[in-house]
Amino acid sequence: MNATTTAAAKPAAKESVTLTDNQNNKAVNLPLLPGTLGPKVVDVRKLYAETGMFTYDPGYTSTGSCESKITFIDGDEGVLLHRGYPIEELAEKSNFMEVCYLLLYGELPTEAQKAKFEEGVTRHTMLHEQMHQIFRGFRRDAHPMAVMCGVVGAMSAFYHDSTDITDPRQREIASYRLIAKVPTIAAMAFKYSIGQPFVYPRNDLSYAENFLHMTFAVPCETYKMNPVLAKAMDRIFILHADHEQNASTSTVRLAGSSGANPFACIAAGIACLWGPAHGGANEAVLAMLKQIGSKDRIPEIVKRARDPKDDFRLMGFGHRVYKNYDPRAKVMQKTCYEVLNELGMTNNPLLETAMELERVALQDDYFIQKKLYPNVDFYSGIILQAMGFPTSMFTAIFALARTVGWIAQWKEMIEDPAQKIGRPRQLYTGATKRPYVPIARRA
Ligand code: CMC
Repeated sequence: MNATTTAAAKPAAKESVTLTDNQNNKAVNLPLLPGTLGPKVVDVRKLYAETGMFTYDPGYTSTGSCESKITFIDGDEGVLLHRGYPIEELAEKSNFMEVCYLLLYGELPTEAQKAKFEEGVTRHTMLHEQMHQIFRGFRRDAHPMAVMCGVVGAMSAFYHDSTDITDPRQREIASYRLIAKVPTIAAMAFKYSIGQPFVYPRNDLSYAENFLHMTFAVPCETYKMNPVLAKAMDRIFILHADHEQNASTSTVRLAGSSGANPFACIAAGIACLWGPAHGGANEAVLAMLKQIGSKDRIPEIVKRARDPKDDFRLMGFGHRVYKNYDPRAKVMQKTCYEVLNELGMTNNPLLETAMELERVALQDDYFIQKKLYPNVDFYSGIILQAMGFPTSMFTAIFALARTVGWIAQWKEMIEDPAQKIGRPRQLYTGATKRPYVPIARRA
């Protein structure tokens, strides 16, 4: 089968790609869809109907699964835009609540819109008191991601008045509930693991401050908020808020495409994010840096990462889409310095190892050829550890921040009139049809 691009013959005609099946002497014209940014997309929706063939793309490296207006990534140039706004500018000038509004509604809010939105979200920060029993059912040493996955899924058993996905108001309330309650759930997962009492949310604090308070405050002392750390927390939330059709977002969309309720869909996203190739990488980076121990061991580690016979990978390096420096990693690096400076920890040995590892890897032929650069997870673990979070909370914080992105993408999908249940096909390579063999006659 050959594919050729035919430019429009007449000005009005749309561009298309012609796919030729040489064996059967058949040709099919597939429309080329232009986006506002990024490469054109071959529309294969009619391919099966017209040719009886499927496409084959494990890992979806060449497949666009949906149309979206939320986030754009140019992986070659290292660009990330939310609703058109560069991530660097949002991280510098905006705040997480504003970014949430932007992702959900498409535009930056006016002051009145922002105040109304913040009030709407803040009203939902408390968790149904009966949900405390669910926490107590977990073992003390449960991973916070296991707790988050279970408790967020269980929200569908508590908030029945926001599970009708056909009602726009219920969808909105579910969105607000999820954004408002994930910090409460994440902080409770942490408190439970260390045996401290749960700390209730405080609606007079900002989103990031409230999370820090619920995580680190104890009833017997006054918690003193550090504005530098609160700002860093807010920025970490912004940097993780959305990232186009990554594995967990696609999981949320796929779960939602069957009509599942939003709480169940977000629980599915949390489950997917947990993996070390995705959100779990921030935890893995810190483990790796600790394992490296000192700068002298870096050449040995880089050698292992290059070795095709060794499945070891440099965690926090490489990305499916970015073939350049992840723009989030640059902001994260800057935030890392700010936090360590504030805490008087600039001679942090992990930071020194990380910086040297980055320097060596970026000069290494293997990493240059394969375009492997630090990603968002490379520096985030160092910041979070310095702020006092245990490694097991790192991915939970990622999930907390990504909830708004998942919700925005889920909402966009539900509101798309062309939405259908997601149902990929396959290349079947198993046994062909054969008769059942009675057990006595099996070899
Ligand atoms: N260290 C060493 N080699 C690597 C690395 C790495 N971190 N990442 C990719 N490679 C090599 C890989 O071995 C392969 O080599 P070859 O072509 O010889 O087989 C080539 O680069 C392409 O890798 P791939 O696995 O086919 O690429 P992918 O797009 O499927 O994987 C990735 C992307 C992020 C899973 C991968 O780069 C990786 O495992 N990185 C480490 C984990 C990590 O940091 N994940 C966080 C991603 S960013 C946060 C998020 O989105 O959740």
